Amino acid sequence: MAVKEPDSFPHDRQPTVRLLAMPAHTNPSGNIFGGWIMAQMDIAGGIVALEYAGGPVVTVAVTSMEFHRPVKVGDLVSCFARIQKVGSSSITVKVQVFAQRPHDGVLQSTAVTEAVIVYVAVDESGVSRKLPERGPDFGHYW
Ligand SMILES: CC(C)(COP(=O)(O)OP(=O)(O)OC[C@H]1O[C@@H](n2cnc3c(N)ncnc32)[C@H](O)[C@@H]1OP(=O)(O)O)[C@@H](O)C(=O)NCCC(=O)NCCS
Repeated sequence: MAVKEPDSFPHDRQPTVRLLAMPAHTNPSGNIFGGWIMAQMDIAGGIVALEYAGGPVVTVAVTSMEFHRPVKVGDLVSCFARIQKVGSSSITVKVQVFAQRPHDGVLQSTAVTEAVIVYVAVDESGVSRKLPERGPDFGHYW
């Protein structure tokens, strides 16, 4: 019987974005294109930032991005986004991505990518705006 190996997949957290890596997103070597993964990460970070800001946000910077392992077609891709820092109008979000791949009847997880992305809350004209004060209800974003 297959034994599930311990992994660093955060089973106690809800992924912000979860999806299946499809053949349409491959690069010429047959792995999943890094730009597609970056787009999913930006969406995941943007969701958390939008919820915290209570309104539109824009991506202003990707301050770090690391690709640890390739993502393969058929992998279940989960992006976990968590707020690292809140400024006057900016929200810094850490996004960690895990790929889960079936092996001997169990899903094996691998940490594939991580990034730190900065979002800025903007008004309807696209000008930065002050973030609202948030109480303990928003603690789960950290
Ligand atoms: C985001 C944007 C509104 C910020 O405008 P700005 O005039 O620089 O605004 P501010 O000077 O008031 O800075 C706003 C916040 O962004 C932060 N910021 C600005 N540039 C940054 C950078 N390169 N890295 C990290 N943080 C940055 C500032 O530190 C400030 O944070 P704080 O308010 O928490 O202290 C503007 O740069 C913009 O519209 N950029 C394009 C965004 C976009 O189109 N994104 C999609 C990319 S495809």
